[in-house]
Amino acid sequence: MPRVQTAKVSPPTTNRRPAKVDDTFYRHLVSSLRTGVLAITREGLLAVINDIAYRSLGLSPRAGDLGRHFTEVLGDCPEVISILQSAFDTDDLPNRAELRLRHTGKSIGYSLSRINDDDGHAHGATLFFKDLTQVEQLEERERLRDRLATLGEMAAAIAHEVKNPLASIEVMAGVLRRQFRDTDDAREQLDDIIKEAKMANAIVVEVLEYVRPIQLQPERVRLEDVLTESLSLAEGKIPRGGIRFDIAINPDVPDITADAHQLSQLFANLIANAFEAMNGKGHVSIRATLIQGDVEPLDGTHALPASVRIELKDDGPGISADDLERIFSPFFTTKPQGTGLGLAIVRKMVNAHDGRIHASSAPGRGTTFTVTLPVVPTRHYPLLMDTTEKEDGPHSRR
Ligand SMILES: Nc1ncnc2c1ncn2[C@@H]1O[C@H](COP(=O)(O)OP(=O)(O)O)[C@@H](O)[C@H]1O
Ligand SMILES: [Mg+2]
Repeated sequence: MPRVQTAKVSPPTTNRRPAKVDDTFYRHLVSSLRTGVLAITREGLLAVINDIAYRSLGLSPRAGDLGRHFTEVLGDCPEVISILQSAFDTDDLPNRAELRLRHTGKSIGYSLSRINDDDGHAHGATLFFKDLTQVEQLEERERLRDRLATLGEMAAAIAHEVKNPLASIEVMAGVLRRQFRDTDDAREQLDDIIKEAKMANAIVVEVLEYVRPIQLQPERVRLEDVLTESLSLAEGKIPRGGIRFDIAINPDVPDITADAHQLSQLFANLIANAFEAMNGKGHVSIRATLIQGDVEPLDGTHALPASVRIELKDDGPGISADDLERIFSPFFTTKPQGTGLGLAIVRKMVNAHDGRIHASSAPGRGTTFTVTLPVVPTRHYPLLMDTTEKEDGPHSRR
C-alpha cells in the first residue's frame, strides 16, 4: 500500500497527555494571532495586548503596560478607550464595526466582546481588530480604475468631436491661403494656422490612440516587413537627416503572430523618438534575436513561451535617471511640442501582445529600448493566462 502523508499535527499520544493546556500556550496563542487583541479586566486594568495591537493602534510597547489602567496606556487612542468603556454599559456589542484613529488616520475594523465567567458575570472585555488601511487602498484603487475608464471614454468622445472642426479649420485656412497667395503677411499667418491645426489634430489622434481599447487583429507577421514599414512611418513624421539606420534580424527568428499594423506603429514611435533625440546625426540600429521558451514548464502554468527580442539602440543624448522613471507615463514629455503619449501607446501595444518593454539609458550614452514579444501571444494558450505587470522591472541605467 502506498504510504500516506501524515498530517502536520502530531497524533494523540496516550502516555504523554498533559492534564490541561498551560498558560504559556494561551500567551503564545495571543501573541501569534494575526489580529490585534486587547483585553481589560472589569476594573479597567490592561490584561492582554499583542504586538499587532500596538502596531495597528500606532503605539509603542512600554515595560509595565500590562496591569496599568487601560486609559493610561491607550491615551493616544480616545476612540478605542470609549469603545472598551462601552463594553460594560450595553448588551448590544459591536461586531465587525469600523473606526478611524484620529492620531494615525488609520482605519480599524473591530469586534468587541465581554469576557464572562461560568456564571455569566462580566469579568472583563476584549477587543479584536484589524488594520483596514490596505483594504481601503485596494478599494480606492478599484474606484480610481473605474473613474479612469469613464475618463477614457469621455476623452475619446471629446477627441472625436474635436477632430471634425479641426479638419474644417485646416481646409478653410487652405482655401484662404490660395486666395491670399500674393499677400505675404496673410499667407504666413495662414501657414501658421494650418500648422497649428495639424499639430492639434496629431494630438487628438494620439489621445484617441491612447484611450481606445486595443483590439488585436493577429496574423503571421514577418518582422523585417514590420520594421521596414515602421522606418518609413517614422520618416514621414520626423526628418531623418544624416542618421544611419540598420536592421539585423538573426536567421533563426521566426514569423510571429501579431497585429502587423500595431507593431508598425509601435516601432515607428520608438524610431521617431530616436530621430527626434538625435538631431539629424548618429546611428540607430535594430537587432532581433530568438529566445527559446521552456520546453517543459516547471509548474505547468508559467511556461516561458518562445519569444523574439528586439533591441532598438541609438547613440543620441540619452535620458536622465529621473526622466527614465517617467518616460512611459502618459503626457510625460521633454519636448516643447511633444504630447508625451508616444511611449504610453507603445507600452499599451506591447502589453496587448503579452510582451514586455524595457528602457535603458544614461545621459551621453545613448538609449536602448528592448521589446520582447512572444512568438505566439500567451493568451492563445488557455493554460498561460498571466495578466500581471508586463513592463520589465525597474529601468536600468547604463
Ligand atoms: N530615444 C530617446 N532618446 C532620448 N529621449 C527619449 C528617447 N525616447 C524617448 N525619450 C524621452 O521620453 C519622452 C517621452 O516620449 P514619448 O512618450 O514618445 O512622448 P513625446 O515624444 O511626445 O515627448 C520624450 O519627451 C523624451 O524625453
Ligand atoms: Mg514620441
